[in-house]
Amino acid sequence: MQSSFRKLGLGLVAFLSLSQVSLFAAAQNADATKLYHRSLAATCANCHGTDGKGVPEAGMPLINNQSSAQILASMKAYKSGAREGTIMPQLAKGYSDEQLQIIANQLGKK
Ligand code: HEC
Repeated sequence: MQSSFRKLGLGLVAFLSLSQVSLFAAAQNADATKLYHRSLAATCANCHGTDGKGVPEAGMPLINNQSSAQILASMKAYKSGAREGTIMPQLAKGYSDEQLQIIANQLGKK
């Protein structure tokens, strides 16, 4: 009798710590996702400046005045070749459509 109580107790402890682990993992995942989204968009900042503020005098267009939909449309056009450019066509081809969507959401005017 006593040993079955002990088993129950151990099972409960195992269950509780497992559920804590999965809660922790979920919180970490959300942080990791945010970080991933931000780092994808950070690539663009090298040329377009932080948060899409451009350096227009250096030939880098401002993109922080555009909506997510506009940015996404340009990126897809660069990727497909419908829109020409010096750098952006090659760059856009390096991203999946899903990544382009994430980047556009991240940088688009809120
Ligand atoms: C190496 C520098 C460089 C990087 C990195 C870069 N861009 Fe560009 N971007 C340019 C240049 C230069 C243009 C002008 C078109 C061309 O010559 O390709 C441009 C044009 C654009 C345009 C069109 C702007 C307009 O209104 O005409 C968008 C949108 C854009 N970039 C988005 C992005 C996004 C999103 C990223 C990150 C994935 C990015 N760019 C990364 C240099 C860069």
